[in-house]
Amino acid sequence: PKTLPLQGKKVIVSAGPTRERIDPVRFVTNFSSGKMGYAMAEAARDLGADVVLVSGPVALAKPTGMRVVDVESAQDMLEAIEAEYDTADIVVKTAAVADYRPKNAATQKVKKKDGDTFMEMERTPDILATLGNKKKHQLLIGFAAETNDVETYAQGKLTRKNADYIVANDVTEVGAGFNTDTNTVTLIGHSDYRARFEHMPKTELAKRLFETILKRAEQ
Ligand code: C5P
Repeated sequence: PKTLPLQGKKVIVSAGPTRERIDPVRFVTNFSSGKMGYAMAEAARDLGADVVLVSGPVALAKPTGMRVVDVESAQDMLEAIEAEYDTADIVVKTAAVADYRPKNAATQKVKKKDGDTFMEMERTPDILATLGNKKKHQLLIGFAAETNDVETYAQGKLTRKNADYIVANDVTEVGAGFNTDTNTVTLIGHSDYRARFEHMPKTELAKRLFETILKRAEQ
């Protein structure tokens, strides 16, 4: 029987938004639907990989044929991925991780007070950069959603986060980005590697991204 390209490989995929609690009834989040990440996890599974999907809160059905770890915050997501990282071959960070969280989450509901402002925010851990710092054999793939200067920012992330690829996503393009079933992206790698994928279903795009990256790894 023909062996699949990712047979025997462990692939971690992160997907969806994170939720950063303000108090027991409120949180900060973003518009990520998890669709691109779930498509990446399913594509890896179909290519034969042993998949761990680390998912923020999304409204999608649980995919079959993989392990799903549900998380809420950026900190939870970091811990879930770190627990799987040493034995992973490929890590795909599709999740839209919150960059900031409330500095002191309240244990009781916050009541309104006089004055215009109330909340202090602090940085969340940058998961991809943390993984990049302690990378050994792992292939690290990040995603970047931007509204402007997409390629410049993505190139910066590739270097700064010690990633192998960044999939750059212009969320202002029609039929691309958050909560759509299609996407248009540029795959950015080292040595000025660029590959453009025009408007296609996220399921198809996920498959092509893996195929392109695997083919390039063979060369
Ligand atoms: O937020 P940013 O545009 O820097 O995200 C680029 C990549 O870094 C994405 O793959 C995202 O999942 C990852 N990221 C992360 N932890 C963060 C912020 C982003 O892993 N706190």
